[in-house]
Amino acid sequence: MSTILLAGGAGYIGSHTALELLNAGYDVIVVDNYANSSPEAIHRVERLTGNNIALYEADVKDTEALSRIFANHSIDAVIHFAGLKAVGESVQKPIMYYRNNIDTTLALLEVMNSYNVKNIIFSSSATVYGEENKVPFAETMPRGACTNPYGWTKSMMEQIFEDAAKADDKLSVVLLRYFNPIGSHESGMIGEDPQGIPNNLMPYVTQVAVGKRECLTIFGKDYPTPDGTCRRDYIHVVDLAKGHVKAIDYILAQDKCCEIFNLGTGVPYSVTEIVETFERVNNIKVNHVYGPRRAGDLAELYANADKAFNILGWKTEKTLEDMCRDSWNWQKNNPNGYRN
Ligand code: NAD
Ligand code: UD1
Repeated sequence: MSTILLAGGAGYIGSHTALELLNAGYDVIVVDNYANSSPEAIHRVERLTGNNIALYEADVKDTEALSRIFANHSIDAVIHFAGLKAVGESVQKPIMYYRNNIDTTLALLEVMNSYNVKNIIFSSSATVYGEENKVPFAETMPRGACTNPYGWTKSMMEQIFEDAAKADDKLSVVLLRYFNPIGSHESGMIGEDPQGIPNNLMPYVTQVAVGKRECLTIFGKDYPTPDGTCRRDYIHVVDLAKGHVKAIDYILAQDKCCEIFNLGTGVPYSVTEIVETFERVNNIKVNHVYGPRRAGDLAELYANADKAFNILGWKTEKTLEDMCRDSWNWQKNNPNGYRN
């Protein structure tokens, strides 16, 4: 069976993907420096699946450390999750974001080349569509202008991968543009574990529900949407993880490819709908107030998800109710994340 290296695999999406890859019969290796994660996530995946994962603590920018891992294993494909992802922090610390996100990518491509590993899947983001394109976003649209350095790192890394694939007729690349992942594995044993004050909506909602934060501020209610709050394409992280398994099946079956796939549901929900659904399915109140818009937010952002269905045979299966229930299940079982 093929062996997949997950760079940044101890994080939120990586740990869920590790679990689904193991369930699909792949061998998994993880390298992470725990900048935003804990090895406990991988230990829990091992417990959930009954499989072992080769786990390395290393910085993915470190080509020597990477080379030692590549020398130890016969790797068929890499999934590159390793990156810093806090939008606000990227505005404050752009150099740190460009250094970490771009250098991890270059280091992986260099070491893969040295060890003749020719398949890589990259965690990109819907943010690369920018403000110019109209929803629903389709892969045929050009990348737009990003509003923050985090977004620009994704856009630049997509360009780097495309250039590398053009120059190497053996290198296969799949760029996955995620929409808004939420939820967690139904066991409630692995989930999203943000450090400090959450930037994203769902972890903020769950932390208010569990009593760690007082009140959610809904950013803006004067958007040109049905209820005036922003709409996003929320996707259950388990569906997203299964999309990676399909992408691995696909890339391993190609002689050569360079493809982009949106991973979203194609259906937008508003912030108010998220809060109301969360309250209803979990039978718990989420204190909230309406506040001003957050700078840089778009009114609506959702995918045209046809390409992933037509080519990968992937579509989402979970509902918004599943996403809200599973997010809460993780939070209430692990009020302090992996630091219990
Ligand atoms: P995460 O922070 O939970 O996971 C990223 C992992 O990368 C963490 O475990 C972190 O410790 C590790 N990492 C960072 N820099 C590293 C380095 N130099 N060396 C080794 N490990 C390093 O985030 P996530 O939500 O799981 O996101 C995974 C990827 O998907 C990221 O690239 C992110 O930008 C991208 N993405 C996430 C979202 C989202 O909403 N969560 C949306 C679009 C794209
Ligand atoms: C954000 C990033 C995006 C990144 C994505 C996944 C911005 C501008 N964009 O997307 O680049 O790829 O996360 O990490 O930060 N909201 C509230 N109150 C809150 C938090 C959020 O009302 O306390 C609203 C936001 O206005 C938005 C929605 O909830 O309408 C979702 O927000 P969030 O989870 O931060 O994701 P995005 O902004 O879509």
